[in-house]
Amino acid sequence: MSCFADGFFADQQGCPILPLGLQTHNSSTGLPEMLKKEIDAVLQYGGNLFEAPVYWVQVEKREGEYDFSQALELIELCRDKNIHLILLWFGINKNGHPTYCPEWVKADPRRFPLAKGPDGGDVATLSPLAEETRKADLRAFTRLMEFLRDTDGDMHTVLAVQVENEIGYANTDMDYSEAAQRLYRRPVPPFLRDISLEDSGITPSGDSWVSCFGRHAHEAFAAWCWADFVQHLAEAGKKVYEIPLLLNAMLGENGFEEPGLCYNSGGPVSRVLDIYRKTAPGIDVICPDIYVQDRERYLKILSRYSRPDNPLFVPESPVMGTANALNMMEAAADPRFCGYACFGAASALDAQGNLLPEAREVALSMKTIASLAPLLRRRAGHVYAIVQQEFMDKQYLHLPGWHVECTFNSASGSRFGLGSFINTRDPFNRDLMETRGRGLLIQTGDSEFYLAGCGVRVDFRMRPEIGYERSYVQLTSRMNGTLNFLSVEEGHFEGDRWVTDRFRNGDEANFACFVHRGEAVRIRLNAAR
Ligand code: DGJ
Repeated sequence: MSCFADGFFADQQGCPILPLGLQTHNSSTGLPEMLKKEIDAVLQYGGNLFEAPVYWVQVEKREGEYDFSQALELIELCRDKNIHLILLWFGINKNGHPTYCPEWVKADPRRFPLAKGPDGGDVATLSPLAEETRKADLRAFTRLMEFLRDTDGDMHTVLAVQVENEIGYANTDMDYSEAAQRLYRRPVPPFLRDISLEDSGITPSGDSWVSCFGRHAHEAFAAWCWADFVQHLAEAGKKVYEIPLLLNAMLGENGFEEPGLCYNSGGPVSRVLDIYRKTAPGIDVICPDIYVQDRERYLKILSRYSRPDNPLFVPESPVMGTANALNMMEAAADPRFCGYACFGAASALDAQGNLLPEAREVALSMKTIASLAPLLRRRAGHVYAIVQQEFMDKQYLHLPGWHVECTFNSASGSRFGLGSFINTRDPFNRDLMETRGRGLLIQTGDSEFYLAGCGVRVDFRMRPEIGYERSYVQLTSRMNGTLNFLSVEEGHFEGDRWVTDRFRNGDEANFACFVHRGEAVRIRLNAAR
């Protein structure tokens, strides 16, 4: 049985797995030829994970009759390529909407009522409070879990199941139906009363939603309604099959950050994460879908979702583009990082199934992370992100024992330190000089490092110890720098074991440690004085 342990997805033996990969588009499940190409794209990105939806509308066309053939197909296609699979349950709520509900649900609004907006009109979201809706989705979800237990319980191709997709109310901050308003007037559940929401304008007191959550009372109530809905699925599902359950978020860090206007209200946005954590303990990871490009907001999102009670898994992000290629290094360097995926695998491919040039940067970044995955999934050392921000020619890392100077090829003009076997006049290699540099540096010992990335080269200089009088002499000694290495090895991991493919020396090691295409290098420096 699969599990989620110590902040990581894990196999049946409890060994950590670092899933990296791609998600298919919303309407591709059931199209095997397309899926095969997309699963190949995962491999071209250096990944090991495919994410794909299971549609309620397809699973239960007629009430009470279940068909999981599409899920089975997904499992077999991934198994065939030795790829992990995360299934996304598109049930009553896909980005706020009930579009993936079976026709018999859509066509019976009396039995499966829509939520209401403040004007009393229907909104395009099924109410998570309606008894029949809860029962119907629960039955289908539980059947899915039974199916997974019976068909995949031993092989464990399916790593996790995502419950619904970016849940919440579309176009309203809460459900204003009579039933919902009655519930809203009742006391806040005691376990939520000590939560203090940033920017609510009050110190929590009393037991009404407004006295506890002030100006965020409606959103807090909506979040509790959805979290409770999710928990009732999670609890029942895990009784059947103990597999990690995920919840993905349409981010609140959007526009002017008001629910129902800038994002669907009641979803697991960062503002209400405490409400989710307390109401839905059956969910293992709440995950941000990060499409924002600017670094500042990206880092803010990471800091909000990476919490002691929530590992960092990014299930959706752009499949191409420089911003994600750079930003994902920041995610990978987060101490709670446990996986990353990009959305829309087919969009990265041409008609023959080859990677489009526009997809290359994100693919290289994913390869970079994959090269060091065995270290990341053991948290084997401190991880530093190297990212060439705009206008940056160098990045300095001040490590406890070492000054590390990262030079970005695109800004340096010099081919010194690129490695003599790289002919930069060859058009194939031009990107080595043009790409925005990025990488990961992992310090695994006092003077041992692993580096992976592209467009960057790294130079080390021993930092003088505190109180060492001859620091200038030490710093200016040629032997204090990169020349003073014990070994520089290109290589790769087999399982957790490092395998050396080539020892770099002379021109390939004397100037700096370069990385070009996401490959890994192990560097052992000489700490002797
Ligand atoms: C986020 C959703 O979760 C995905 O299913 C998809 O609709 C993308 N947005 C849109 O590209």
